[in-house]
Amino acid sequence: MRPSPLSYKQRLPVWLCLLLLVWCLGMGWGVSNVMAASQQPGTVDPVFTDQLELGQEYYLENCTTCHIALPPAVFPSETWRQLLMTTEHYGVEIKLPFDPQRVLMWLYLQTFSRAHLEKEEIPFRLPQSRYFKALHPRVTLPQPVNIRSCITCHPGAEQYNFRELNPDVSNSP
Ligand code: HEC
Ligand code: HEC
Repeated sequence: MRPSPLSYKQRLPVWLCLLLLVWCLGMGWGVSNVMAASQQPGTVDPVFTDQLELGQEYYLENCTTCHIALPPAVFPSETWRQLLMTTEHYGVEIKLPFDPQRVLMWLYLQTFSRAHLEKEEIPFRLPQSRYFKALHPRVTLPQPVNIRSCITCHPGAEQYNFRELNPDVSNSP
């Protein structure tokens, strides 16, 4: 006697398993996409377009050879604008890229920084920047704070990550 083919009821679990498998694969793909997207350097910058991403790339390329790149939010936009207009830079000579690279850098820096208040002096040093202070409501900063001291509390500063905090700091009140 030949075995009768599987009835509909018997086949149902097989179909369900297949469906589940397809769904799992889809989820895995989605999750890995999200992971890839979140592997951008841990900036404080919320939204990215292609132009801004390029601008950030040029910024990191041009401004990290001598020191870490500061996140745009620590200075008003005007500070960045002026820094991009001259090759005389804190007593040294820097090379600035030609446009459109320079314009894209400016677009990036401007997007993620704020305007200064009218009549306010444009700060060129961190201790003079109100925005830098505003980002640090809870900590006592070393005096005077400078571009080399970020790393003591932000271990990822050289990777442009200012989210991660040294545990000693994050446990302080
Ligand atoms: C050739 C080396 C060099 C390059 C390239 C360079 N810098 Fe600098 N930067 C310096 C030096 C030197 C200082 C002063 C450091 C100090 O006195 O503590 C400085 C200081 C700064 C400061 C002030 C930080 C503070 O002390 O408050 C900012 C902001 C800054 N640089 C932004 C930039 C930007 C934006 C770029 C890219 C366009 C850039 N730097 C590229 C050498 C460089
Ligand atoms: C004494 C430790 C300390 C130093 C030094 C320090 N930070 Fe911070 N930073 C913190 C803490 C803690 C926070 C979280 C806000 C708070 O608790 O005040 C923070 C927050 C920030 C944020 C906001 C991060 C976010 O997720 O929104 C930025 C940007 C930042 N710091 C940049 C810098 C830069 C640039 C330097 C160096 C010029 C620096 N910090 C130096 C401790 C420090």
